[in-house]
Amino acid sequence: MTKKLTVVDIRAMKATGEKITVLTAYDASMARLLEAAGIEVLLVGDSLGMVVMGYDSTVPVTMEDMLHHAKAVRRGAPASLVVCDMPFMSYHVSIPEAIHNAGRLMKEAGCDAVKLEGGHEICSTVNALVQAGIPVMGHIGLTPQTAGLLGGYKVQGKDLDSARKQLAFAKALEAAGAFALVLECLPAALAQAITEAINIPTIGIGAGVGCDGQVLVTNDMLGMFEKFTPSFVKNYTHLAAQIKEAVVDYKHEVKAKAYPDAAHSFTMKVDIAEVLKGE
Ligand code: KIV
Repeated sequence: MTKKLTVVDIRAMKATGEKITVLTAYDASMARLLEAAGIEVLLVGDSLGMVVMGYDSTVPVTMEDMLHHAKAVRRGAPASLVVCDMPFMSYHVSIPEAIHNAGRLMKEAGCDAVKLEGGHEICSTVNALVQAGIPVMGHIGLTPQTAGLLGGYKVQGKDLDSARKQLAFAKALEAAGAFALVLECLPAALAQAITEAINIPTIGIGAGVGCDGQVLVTNDMLGMFEKFTPSFVKNYTHLAAQIKEAVVDYKHEVKAKAYPDAAHSFTMKVDIAEVLKGE
């Protein structure tokens, strides 16, 4: 049986310099594949709102949506560190409500940690969650839940003032008790400077090679999500084209009565078939 990973193992990887691999998962079958491939951290991202549920943003995603998908991921990947996004407005109203919602993700779905987007404004919530025994991953840079406030899905920290702001966020989240930090869409040099300035691992997405680990939306890196591909995404394969080709083949074979053939059908004893024919 594979050893169950904990946040302590992930923190230790920063010290050894071994890069941390993180991918999103939304269901048990993908989670099983990612765990078998040795990915250390599975993120049940609220990106599922766009990738799986067809919304235009992550804003409509609910606690019930996250719980539903997180439970499936946990069942598929018992040994991975499963981190679950807290959806928009599940941690903003009050600290007790944030603890209640994060506790549900841990207790009902079996997640190992939660992820929250934001800087100074969420530090007291992060600290309260950690005090309650809930490991927290922070998320700064481009924060999709509040992309509207940032002027859209844009690279952050490009000038000195905003770079300083991102560095201050990172330090504040570390001080609040976060065990790791996602850096989304930051210039590579800034992400590297943040990585060197804090003692917790940074997980980059569109933030260059200097981070302690990398995360991608699995459907993006597999070439499954054709609606929009951010420029930092590398397609490691092109599953959308392969899926469409396979489905067209299936359709043709069904129409042509070539599927199911004998190899994909069940047989029965000939004498029984004869008896039934006479009835
Ligand atoms: O929701 C998500 O998938 C994320 C990653 C892009 C980091 O937050």
